Amino acid sequence: PVPAMSVFSEVPQAPPVAVFKLSADFREDSHPQKVNLGVGAYRTDDCQPWVLPVVKKVERLIVEDGSLNHEYLPILGLPEFRSASSKVALGDDSAAIKDNRVGGVQALGGTGALRIGAEFLRRWYNGVNNTATPIYVSAPTWENHNSVFADAGFKDIRPYHYWDAAKRGLDLDGLLDDLEKAPERSVFVLHACAHNPTGTDPTPEEWKKISEIMKRRSLFVFFDSAYQGFASGDLDKDAWAIRYFVSEGFELFVAQSFSKNFGLYNERVGNLTVVAQDGENLSRILSQMEKIVRTTWSNPPSQGARIVSKTLNSPELFAEWKGNVKTMAERVLLMRDQLKAKLQAQGTPGTWDHITQQIGMFSFTGLNPKQVEYMIKEKHVYLMASGRINMCGLTTKNIDYVAQSIHDAVTKVQ
Ligand SMILES: Cc1ncc(COP(=O)(O)O)c(C=O)c1O
Ligand SMILES: *[C@@H]1O[C@H](CO)[C@@H](O)[C@H](O)[C@H]1NC(C)=O
Ligand SMILES: *[C@@H]1O[C@H](CO)[C@@H](O)[C@H](O)[C@H]1NC(C)=O
Ligand SMILES: *[C@@H]1O[C@H](CO)[C@@H](O)[C@H](O)[C@H]1NC(C)=O
Repeated sequence: PVPAMSVFSEVPQAPPVAVFKLSADFREDSHPQKVNLGVGAYRTDDCQPWVLPVVKKVERLIVEDGSLNHEYLPILGLPEFRSASSKVALGDDSAAIKDNRVGGVQALGGTGALRIGAEFLRRWYNGVNNTATPIYVSAPTWENHNSVFADAGFKDIRPYHYWDAAKRGLDLDGLLDDLEKAPERSVFVLHACAHNPTGTDPTPEEWKKISEIMKRRSLFVFFDSAYQGFASGDLDKDAWAIRYFVSEGFELFVAQSFSKNFGLYNERVGNLTVVAQDGENLSRILSQMEKIVRTTWSNPPSQGARIVSKTLNSPELFAEWKGNVKTMAERVLLMRDQLKAKLQAQGTPGTWDHITQQIGMFSFTGLNPKQVEYMIKEKHVYLMASGRINMCGLTTKNIDYVAQSIHDAVTKVQ
């Protein structure tokens, strides 16, 4: 018999996710000098993924630990993971933790933490099921921020001023003006450190101005912390903004990802930290979070959370991890110095100081879409259309080629 028309024949083909499409194109490219500066993942100087030595060590401990099994975890996650992660974000001495008004939800990566947080806000923030609350995301931002809040049902997602392309830095006036003008109780998604894609963060003085307006105007703070440790190499320094806002008495959410700073990209380790006014309010919030998780993934996976919590809960392993994070951050800093120096030595037109002023995994080069296309097609150097490059894709072996390619792109393509 002739098969009936599929019930799915009307499903439109969705466009590919840009950053993964870029990686697929890179894999298919057979050019010997090809370079991938797209996806946000750490690479060694041999251009290889890096399993952190501390992670290898803890994985071995887990295998040999006869007390561990594969029973379901609690819905909100591994208890020792949940408690350890807030300490990393908020600091050992956090008054909010001592007051028992900080709780966490183990999530599937930073993305899962954002999604669960967004779902909770739609259900319970600023009225029940209020999809009209404006959600502000930086211009530009990690492209998934828009989709995550849209999929949670929010109808009014707006950009706030962030990047000043002319001065290649923060548009502080634009940002403060947007804060002043936003409707009260709007939600602002703030990158805790190492802003993706611009590599540009507010200074502590600038954060204080942001905080003052947000408090006065009753705006909700949702921190996205995906790169703690990558900005400065120092975990505490990179958590400065979060800790400052908590000390200012905000009720806030922090979506924490351990993908980058533990190199556990495929284990999906994240944490949604909730800072509430008091323990009683916290427990009602967490009871609703539990309901959301129950219908989303029901119970989180354990392997990545065990690796992270064993590391964070042992002083020796914790110190070793900090060293590993520093190793990654320092290699990025070295590549920044070298790329800038090479561009300047070649006399590549334009100013390149922003390469070393920017921090974290990415640099926003200022290359325009046509120059990016030239880089990919003619030079086999893959980067995002926005001009963002992953600094970790640079190595002492390919940096000359990349610098020469940027020079050619800038001088040959307008
Ligand atoms: C700004 C930002 N937030 C969140 C994430 C999500 O990280 P995860 O892989 O843990 O979901 C990323 C990952 O690229 C990111 O860049
Ligand atoms: C997750 O968040 C909670 C609340 O902030 C915190 O107590 C816990 O330590 C965090 N877990 C990890 C592994 O960061
Ligand atoms: C919120 O919306 C969901 C989905 O439409 C609905 O099931 C739920 O009952 C609503 N909640 C309240 C409290 O109205
Ligand atoms: C916390 O929740 C309770 C209601 O259960 C409320 O009475 C109390 O005022 C709340 N705390 C704050 C600081 O709002």
